[in-house]
Amino acid sequence: MAIRVCLAGVTGWAGAALARAIVQTDDLELVAGVSRRHAGQNLGDVLNIPHLNVVISGSAEEALTTGCDVFVEYTKPDVARANVSTALRRGAHGVIGTSGLTDQDLEEIDALARQHNSGVLAVGNFSLPVVLLQKCAELVARYLPQYEIIDYAHADKKDAPSGTARELAYRLSKARPAQVAVPLEQTEGPLESRGVTLNGVQVHSIRLPGHVISVEALFGVLDQRLSLRYDAGSSPEAYVEGALLAIRRVGTFVGLKRGLDSVMDF
Ligand SMILES: NC(=O)c1ccc[n+]([C@@H]2O[C@H](COP(=O)([O-])OP(=O)(O)OC[C@H]3O[C@@H](n4cnc5c(N)ncnc54)[C@H](OP(=O)(O)O)[C@@H]3O)[C@@H](O)[C@H]2O)c1
Repeated sequence: MAIRVCLAGVTGWAGAALARAIVQTDDLELVAGVSRRHAGQNLGDVLNIPHLNVVISGSAEEALTTGCDVFVEYTKPDVARANVSTALRRGAHGVIGTSGLTDQDLEEIDALARQHNSGVLAVGNFSLPVVLLQKCAELVARYLPQYEIIDYAHADKKDAPSGTARELAYRLSKARPAQVAVPLEQTEGPLESRGVTLNGVQVHSIRLPGHVISVEALFGVLDQRLSLRYDAGSSPEAYVEGALLAIRRVGTFVGLKRGLDSVMDF
């Protein structure tokens, strides 16, 4: 039987691409979608998907009156936690693609998920190459503890460092704390020139026209260098495969898991 999916943010940049992919599968069924501006309209007409008849809801609360197995959150951080909580109370599992939820939000969601015997998968970046970069970089950091991160993005990206760079800093620091040769307080010149310290890792954010999204883990060892770099294209397709995997796997456990790698075999 197909997994019934309710997608909040169904008309958004990321959500629309995911909606189009879901309707192409045999094992997933898009049964409800949320967008305030398109509430009441047929999703098939809005996204130009032939033969799709799903009336868009103006809120997650309303959309969840249609029974679903998995609720996908792809809207904005200010409503994400409430949306996922509503979905859990209605007996659905949750996939969180929305960035910006705090550790405390996720802890509360974890507790609620356990209470309702449901699973929640929170994934800061669904891109499979990013997941692979994270895993490879964790392995390298165990052997090469002098590393820093560079976070590149287009000029108008306001948040810095990116969620992906933050996640990478967190993971690398867990693999092995970063070492710096010259303690930061002994920097000669502005301390800011050494970037921001996240989980003990120096992270440098570049925001320039002509750039899309890239992240680079740089490792230095005596007279040698190793860099692991990911470059995104400009379409949301990069996030589709990972999101489909998350929807398929989220019903296989109880409580909250973080990161797509938590449901992949390595
Ligand atoms: N995890 C990943 O790999 C990944 C990848 C891409 C993006 N993201 C994250 O996913 C989120 C969405 O990104 P996006 O680029 O798709 O944004 P977007 O293009 O602005 O789309 C947002 C969607 O959410 C809906 N929405 C916004 N506020 C809402 C509310 N209060 N109630 C109900 N619906 C609401 C919008 O429709 P209306 O305005 O009509 O309500 C729209 O459908 C962001 O947090 C982004 O950082 C994560």
